[in-house]
Amino acid sequence: MFAVCAVALLCLMSVSHAAPVACEEFLRPLDQLDPRHLEGRWALVAGGFENPAFLKFFKRRNSSSINFSNVSATPSISFTHSAHSGGKCYSRHDSVSLKGSVLTFNMRDRLNLTVTFLDTSCHDCVLMRFDDESTKLQRLYLFSRSREVEMEEFKAQVQCLNMPPPVVMDPNKELCTQQPTGDPAAQTDAKTEGRKA
Ligand SMILES: *[C@@H]1O[C@H](CO)[C@@H](O)[C@H](O)[C@H]1NC(C)=O
Ligand SMILES: *[C@@H]1O[C@H](CO)[C@@H](O)[C@H](O)[C@H]1NC(C)=O
Ligand SMILES: *[C@@H]1O[C@H](CO)[C@@H](O)[C@H](O)[C@H]1NC(C)=O
Ligand SMILES: *[C@@H]1O[C@H](CO)[C@@H](O)[C@H](O)[C@H]1NC(C)=O
Repeated sequence: MFAVCAVALLCLMSVSHAAPVACEEFLRPLDQLDPRHLEGRWALVAGGFENPAFLKFFKRRNSSSINFSNVSATPSISFTHSAHSGGKCYSRHDSVSLKGSVLTFNMRDRLNLTVTFLDTSCHDCVLMRFDDESTKLQRLYLFSRSREVEMEEFKAQVQCLNMPPPVVMDPNKELCTQQPTGDPAAQTDAKTEGRKA
């Protein structure tokens, strides 16, 4: 706890764009990532953005989640992102490749992003830095198996990346249920959840 606060303070005091050494240590890519650890759904807990326009767009969301499946097919695995916005659920499915702690989208002409899994002290979390290769802008997302996580470390990490304060998601908002296409029962579930949120 103390270390986290000390680092945050260091970052506050840093006026240059170059991150202090402590910050670099703080945003270390994972040495080892067992793909099996990723399998299943993760709720978005908080996000940090370099681009203020994205921040505004993001605040319109009630909830957001990701789902890794078919991880045994590494390096090519299945990635679904769902967002709940304006009372509706939106999902997007992508095939991604995982090499070490770096994930890339297989259709790079559609999503030219490099995602790096970073170290976090939160045990049921994944911390992902999204580097947009076209705009060179970064985003930092904290996902968790639970909906609420201690935020101090993430806030400091966002600050280390010189981003404005993160958006913290409301843990009480319903997540979207992902329906496999063509399953009417699952679709009903998704609609019901949408109304409750
Ligand atoms: C899972 O991976 C296997 C082997 O690569 C592939 O044949 C199958 O289509 C994949 N399933 C899904 C749902 O992506
Ligand atoms: C959140 O959900 C409620 C109820 O579905 C909806 O009316 C509202 O517009 C949603 N807010 C956002 C930011 O999506
Ligand atoms: C992705 O971005 C990089 C860096 O700007 C660029 O070199 C590459 O051509 C882009 N790839 C696609 C498919 O747009
Ligand atoms: C995650 O994706 C898999 C494969 O599409 C699906 O079977 C599963 O129900 C999804 N999990 C959630 C919580 O949506």
